[in-house]
Amino acid sequence: MKILILGSGGREHVLGWKIKQSTLLKDLYFAPGNAGTSYLGENLPIQPDEIPKLLEFALSHKIDLTVVGPETPLVLGIAEEFSRRGLCLFGPDSNGAKLEGSKLWAKQFMVKHQIPTAPAEFFTSCEKAEQFLESALFPVVIKADGLAQGKGVVICKTKEEARQTLRCFMVQKSLGKSGETVLIESFLEGEEISCFAFFNGSSFVYLGEARDYKKAYDKNQGPNTGGMGAVSSSSLISPQIRERIKEQIFARVLQGLLKEKIQYRGILYAGLILTHEGAKILEFNARFGDPEAQVLIPRIQGDLLPFLLSSAKGEKLSESISLCSQTYVGVVVAAKGYPGEYKKGMELPDLKNLPDEILAFHSATSRLSENSPLINQGGRTLTLVSSEKTLENAASRIYTALNQIQFHDFFYRTDIGRENISPAQSASMKE
Ligand code: GLY
Repeated sequence: MKILILGSGGREHVLGWKIKQSTLLKDLYFAPGNAGTSYLGENLPIQPDEIPKLLEFALSHKIDLTVVGPETPLVLGIAEEFSRRGLCLFGPDSNGAKLEGSKLWAKQFMVKHQIPTAPAEFFTSCEKAEQFLESALFPVVIKADGLAQGKGVVICKTKEEARQTLRCFMVQKSLGKSGETVLIESFLEGEEISCFAFFNGSSFVYLGEARDYKKAYDKNQGPNTGGMGAVSSSSLISPQIRERIKEQIFARVLQGLLKEKIQYRGILYAGLILTHEGAKILEFNARFGDPEAQVLIPRIQGDLLPFLLSSAKGEKLSESISLCSQTYVGVVVAAKGYPGEYKKGMELPDLKNLPDEILAFHSATSRLSENSPLINQGGRTLTLVSSEKTLENAASRIYTALNQIQFHDFFYRTDIGRENISPAQSASMKE
């Protein structure tokens, strides 16, 4: 089969790494990919939102399956465009992608279909939103309705902070159209977890969980990021909680989608918080998480391609997915300054001496010429992943490997998998 993967992050690298192991694979392409993916297949000079160019490539090269990594092409309707031309694509259509693309739509969907979530009010007028703050209990969470490259969710501890956020989104239009409508929702307390399931339009099969570390620095200090590390193992939640999440979240989402006549084909990422009243949704994403994918996908036993194909084609999904019992820990190496200002084009150290059992997934890395050093083109640059029987050993193995490399212009957290992360409201950020 000829497979095309859209995106340039660690998520797309791990997808390619796993697909490369499939006996069904003939040719693998990435648009645009990164220096790491260039060892797995061919990188194309096409961005994931250049839909006409992608269509032309997929048609002329007879691509059997296109796998969409990031959300923007999905929200723009790439699935409909490909389907109209008879091309097979993994990822929901623009209606399904509204679960991520419109926070207001997603909230209304959850309320309508009894999917547990925080209560919220929405506003299109800054004045009315500010009036609402007069009687609100703090902290509140302010969410811009549209896609905002991770800058659209702010936890406001005080009325003044909330007022400033509203003005920034709604009056100064810091996020453009995405911030014209906002949600103000109650802050929920509990442990956060990311859960994933494959959907084929009429049923779902649950994949598993990962924990994302969103704060930039150790002990969950500093600004929110796209994720500075992740852990995946079968013991992040109990089997009972997992069953409840399947029943109360994923099964209800499926029923809701069917009622609304939305054929969701792809992966659904539920960002959950485990409260005293049970699991509640913080946000949905219409894609795999990054860096969650880097620790979850390697746990999948056997071939990933059949799952992607049956989801994309609306064919019967297998009853369950088998995950290995090892614990995976992934640590993200980012450019100093990220998620604020950082330099691009900085040289990364040689990774040749990394032990074989450490997986290195690249994000937006490149080389100026074939043998020149790796350089960064983005904030998050690498996810290094280790696996062991226990969390303690997996974390110790990854940090032993990291300590042997001198990352001058880059930094990483030193506590991934090493301490319980304190409850924090999700404010997922991307580069
Ligand atoms: N790691 C969070 C996300 O992918 O949105």
